[in-house]
Amino acid sequence: MNCIGLHAHIGSQIFELQPHHDLGAVMVQWLSKAAQYGLPVKELNIGGGLGIRYTESDDPPSIEEWVRVVVESVKVACEAQQVPLPKLLCEPGRSLIGPACVTAYSVGSQKIVPEIRTYLTVDGGMSDNPRPITYQSLYRVVAANRMSAPITETVTIAGKHCESGDILIKDASLPITHPGDILVVMATGAYNYSMSSNYNRIPRPSAVLVREGEANIILQRETYQDLIRQDRLPERLKQS
Ligand SMILES: Cc1ncc(COP(=O)(O)O)c(C=O)c1O
Repeated sequence: MNCIGLHAHIGSQIFELQPHHDLGAVMVQWLSKAAQYGLPVKELNIGGGLGIRYTESDDPPSIEEWVRVVVESVKVACEAQQVPLPKLLCEPGRSLIGPACVTAYSVGSQKIVPEIRTYLTVDGGMSDNPRPITYQSLYRVVAANRMSAPITETVTIAGKHCESGDILIKDASLPITHPGDILVVMATGAYNYSMSSNYNRIPRPSAVLVREGEANIILQRETYQDLIRQDRLPERLKQS
């Protein structure tokens, strides 16, 4: 065995820097232990876990702050334990790409259940964003074509997949909306496309890269033809 490094990943959506600081110190203890066993481990990977802002109350530290805290903690611990400084690696995960993307939906029908809740349906849901149904993750939504309208409504945004759990956002605050309005859900750049599916044979939407007034399609919208591309008829049926 050629042991070149140690790796740890303490979790996801962590908003405090203290656990990352503590991790640095703990991992240096393991570097020291490895050296005692004659394993001169030269690399330390402290994983990811930096939270991103999904909702307005989320207040994540910046990547710079995270790196500064970890580097400081590793340096201090290395000095205290007389361990040579390792090559330090990290896995910023969603903090790199999550906030860079939004998902746009069209509003469909509305269903009012008196004194319970109002549902707004959209032309997507659990197939393009499986996080809410999988682990009840929270998102912020705005009505992109009504940004100056007063926020007066509390609505639950439901997907189109015919599942009772296909709820993108519970109790979202929005202005009055109408069919065809555009709802934009924030911070969908990480774990959305990678975890998307063709649930109920819904084709995936396209992805558009927008930068400085330029828009490029970087992922073609799926067609029904795409969905049946791998389907085959048994020989017997082909002949008849
Ligand atoms: C080993 C490892 N590193 C990094 C990450 C990235 O985590 P996040 O995107 O939550 O920062 C994950 C996610 O689960 C992971 O398992």
